[in-house]
Amino acid sequence: MKLVSKSKEREGNRLAQHASGDKRFKILEVFMKKFQFRQDALIEMLHKAQELFGFLDEDLLFFISFHLKLPPSRVYGVATFYHFFTLKPQGRHTCVVCLGTACYVKGADRVMSSLEASLGIKAGETTPDKNISLLTARCIGACGIAPAVVFDGSVVPRTTPEAALLKTKQWLEP
Ligand code: FES
Repeated sequence: MKLVSKSKEREGNRLAQHASGDKRFKILEVFMKKFQFRQDALIEMLHKAQELFGFLDEDLLFFISFHLKLPPSRVYGVATFYHFFTLKPQGRHTCVVCLGTACYVKGADRVMSSLEASLGIKAGETTPDKNISLLTARCIGACGIAPAVVFDGSVVPRTTPEAALLKTKQWLEP
C-alpha cells in the first residue's frame, strides 16, 4: 500500500534541491514553506531572497515563481516595481558580504569597511567602471564558516579583509 499521499509527494518535489546545490535556495524553500507557498506572501519571499543573496537575479525570480506557482512576469513585475529590490547588479563581478550576526561578530564589518575603502564605493553600489558591485546579505546559512563572503556566487569561508581585497584586486587585473 502506498503510504505517501499525492500532496506529500508534491511537497517533496517542491522541496527538491536547487540544481546549483547552493544552500541558500534550501533556506528560501523552508521560508516559503512556512508561508505555505502563499502567493499573497510574494513580497515577503522577495525580501527573504534578497536578504540571502544580496540581489534578485533571474534564476532566483524563476525559482520563486515556480514555488509560488505564479507567472514569472508577475514576480518580475513586483520585483521591479519596488525600489528596495535590487535586480541583477550592474557590475561584471559581485561581492556579497554577509552581515548577519555570526559573520558580524567574526569581523564581517571590517571586511566590508576595507572593501568600501579600497573600491571607493559604499555597500549597495557599483564601481564607476561597472566592474564590481558590492552588496550585503543577512545570514546566508553558512554561520559555521563565518565571516562568509560570496564572490561571483561562490561562498568563501572565514574571509579576512586581506583575502577579500586580494580577491577584488584579481578582478581589477586586465
Ligand atoms: S550570519 Fe553570515 S552566514 Fe549566518
